[in-house]
Amino acid sequence: MPTNDAQGPPPASLPRHVAIVMDGNGRWAQQRSLPRTAGHREGAKAVRRIVQACSERGIEALTLFAFSSENWQRPRPEVDVLMRLFLTTLRSEIRRLDAANVRLRFIGDQSAFSTILQTYITKAEQRTAGNTGLNLNIAANYGGRWDITQAARRIASDVAAGRLQPADVVPDLVHRYTCLAELPEPDLFIRTGGEQRISNFLLWQLAYTELYFTDRLWPDYDADAFDLACAAFVRRQRRFGQTAEQVTRSTDA
Ligand code: FPP
Repeated sequence: MPTNDAQGPPPASLPRHVAIVMDGNGRWAQQRSLPRTAGHREGAKAVRRIVQACSERGIEALTLFAFSSENWQRPRPEVDVLMRLFLTTLRSEIRRLDAANVRLRFIGDQSAFSTILQTYITKAEQRTAGNTGLNLNIAANYGGRWDITQAARRIASDVAAGRLQPADVVPDLVHRYTCLAELPEPDLFIRTGGEQRISNFLLWQLAYTELYFTDRLWPDYDADAFDLACAAFVRRQRRFGQTAEQVTRSTDA
């Protein structure tokens, strides 16, 4: 049995669901004396590379943090460029994503987006809804607290309408009201760009996710770097609250 740094048996396989905070676009650009927005454009190319890598490796779901609820506070021109980039990327990539059997979904509060962006998002989701390959989720105007709050609001409304009893509100039920409930929870969280924090991403869903941080800036992220993260994941021992001995025993059985 291969050894690993957590002194237990490694998970049998690659992560089924990977969640990524794509950080470092601005610094990538600043290091080259370019405007921050050039970093976002280069970041879109890294998105394409990693989507392809996930598809090729048979990963079930990839969730990318593209725009947080807090990103509206950035300078207006940067926000405008990001919105335009989402639109142009959707337009230019949708055919390729569909052909690659990718199912595209957006999570987050889309009501703040322009009508045209909302329309393209809906079209892209409808076009790829029947695809059975990689589930690609783009978190845009998303925040983990927003997600939990929208779940709580919908649960409260079902309780008020008599469709649920207060005693029905248990973790499994709350989970079903959060975004991405139909997918396995993320096994691996990756954050590029050197910071070590979750930044209000998938707060509910990351409860037992393995966290991996790299200094690599997002525009430089590629399939080799992704494989390093997966290799680190495979060496981890996941315990889900159990002891190392319990996990080893159940894996040996
Ligand atoms: C964080 O880097 C990155 C963002 C807020 C935007 C992410 C957007 C993309 C990668 C563009 C394309 C995305 C899609 C889905 C088409 P930062 O600007 O905070 O970098 P910094 O920490 O170096 O300043």
